[in-house]
Amino acid sequence: MIKALAYLGVNSPNHEQWPAFATEFLGAQLADPGPDGAVRIRIDDAVWRIQVHPADQDSVAYFGWQVDHEEDLDVVIAALADAGVTATRGGQDLAEARNVNQIISFDDPWGFHHEVVWGQETAIGTFLPGRPISGFVTGQQGLGHVLLLMPDIEKGHEFFSGVLGFELSDKIIVPGRLNARFYHVNARHHTLALGECPPGVAGFNHLMLQVRSMDDVGTAYDMVEEKNIPLTLSLGRHSNDKMFSFYFSTPSSFHIEYGYDGVEVTEDWVPRVHNKSAIWGHVFQPEAAQRAPGIMHALDA
Ligand SMILES: [Fe+2]
Repeated sequence: MIKALAYLGVNSPNHEQWPAFATEFLGAQLADPGPDGAVRIRIDDAVWRIQVHPADQDSVAYFGWQVDHEEDLDVVIAALADAGVTATRGGQDLAEARNVNQIISFDDPWGFHHEVVWGQETAIGTFLPGRPISGFVTGQQGLGHVLLLMPDIEKGHEFFSGVLGFELSDKIIVPGRLNARFYHVNARHHTLALGECPPGVAGFNHLMLQVRSMDDVGTAYDMVEEKNIPLTLSLGRHSNDKMFSFYFSTPSSFHIEYGYDGVEVTEDWVPRVHNKSAIWGHVFQPEAAQRAPGIMHALDA
């Protein structure tokens, strides 16, 4: 069914900080703004991959997921209906707003708004990075991965794996500190991760962008001090996907993991349980405790 993360949309009062942040630091490119003034960000030949819409407060607008064939949208609608979730077919206006050919949308049990799309508009050979980097790993692996926080990740597993077909890559369980599940839908080790958080809230913790060389990560790391980037986790390497990365807050409450060298899952992949999240590094920065763990929202009691 779902084959990749196609795009991400957030609402934010700090949208005006994104053009410089996206180009000078992330190495992304700007597309023309959306009709509402949304900052549209490119990391490959897709016409955009991230939209930051002007708004009074930070919230997740939508996660956009890709299917490979138009008929697959019917399969997603049917699977959701079996689980009691109504998906709506979007009209021409919504499809045009997202630069896709076909689109459906639904809200999950945690209040996240999802869109599933076919036919994302691409302009081959037009991506130009905003700073001298070798580029981003996308293609069939999509935009990157997202980590969602929810109090009940086993229910999350039933929904995202049982209903939507995300396949478990592994778990990381550090008693009292971390309980997370990681899922693949293509060769990327995970496109979706679920992390347990306290009751009453859910949230969007981070987006991972994967660059093509270690130096792309290193040159970004060099800019952290100079550009006052709020570091969340220092440079390190993950135990499960082996991503060489660091984490920082964006101007819009969620974090970005900026990484290189993540492993790819193969057909004979066997899910494992890891008892730590990093082989080395990824030290949580004390000042990050003052910031939100992501774009959080209250759950209905
Ligand atoms: Fe990550």
